[in-house]
Amino acid sequence: MYHHVLQEVLIPADVLQQRIAELGAEISRDYEGEEILMICILRGGVMFLTDLIRHITIPVAIDFMAVSSYGVGARQSQGEVRIAMDLNTPLADRHVILVEDIVDTGHTIAAVLEMLETRHPKSLRVCSLLDKSVRREIVVPIHYRGFEIPNKFVFGYGLDLDEHWRNLPFIGVAKT
Ligand code: IMP
Repeated sequence: MYHHVLQEVLIPADVLQQRIAELGAEISRDYEGEEILMICILRGGVMFLTDLIRHITIPVAIDFMAVSSYGVGARQSQGEVRIAMDLNTPLADRHVILVEDIVDTGHTIAAVLEMLETRHPKSLRVCSLLDKSVRREIVVPIHYRGFEIPNKFVFGYGLDLDEHWRNLPFIGVAKT
């Protein structure tokens, strides 16, 4: 079990699901009468994306991209961000929402937004489940935010602890 790596449960599964339902309803209202393309940044955002789209009542297309950061510390990202796996879908003239698990320093999302803007979407917004804003090093717009969290390393619900425990249904704080 996970008790040797878990310090505490930060966001229980039912609280996560309740907030995700609210975000889905908010997105559905904001884009009423439109179609949207939701882009998931692998791998951390997968669980969030698949739960979120079940609460969206307008037509949704999904696509996936993977990025890698160079100059990365063990549990942080910084430095240059490159596309490791690109989208299959053209973005021109589409309403696009980028779905992330967590915005930490902001470098990943800032770099991805810059790359995607060059493809001329009709609109481009960010939806992040978690926001560790005390660690922010670069200003990034987060239009849809699940939870503000403290400066602790978290895992579960898509986020990994050294590539394990993405499968947990809650967000936990890792033991240090
Ligand atoms: P940023 O570029 O610093 O905003 O980092 C974003 C990425 O770092 C996320 O997509 C995660 O993959 C990873 N990350 C940042 N904080 C955490 C954490 O507390 N747990 C797991 N992954 C994290």
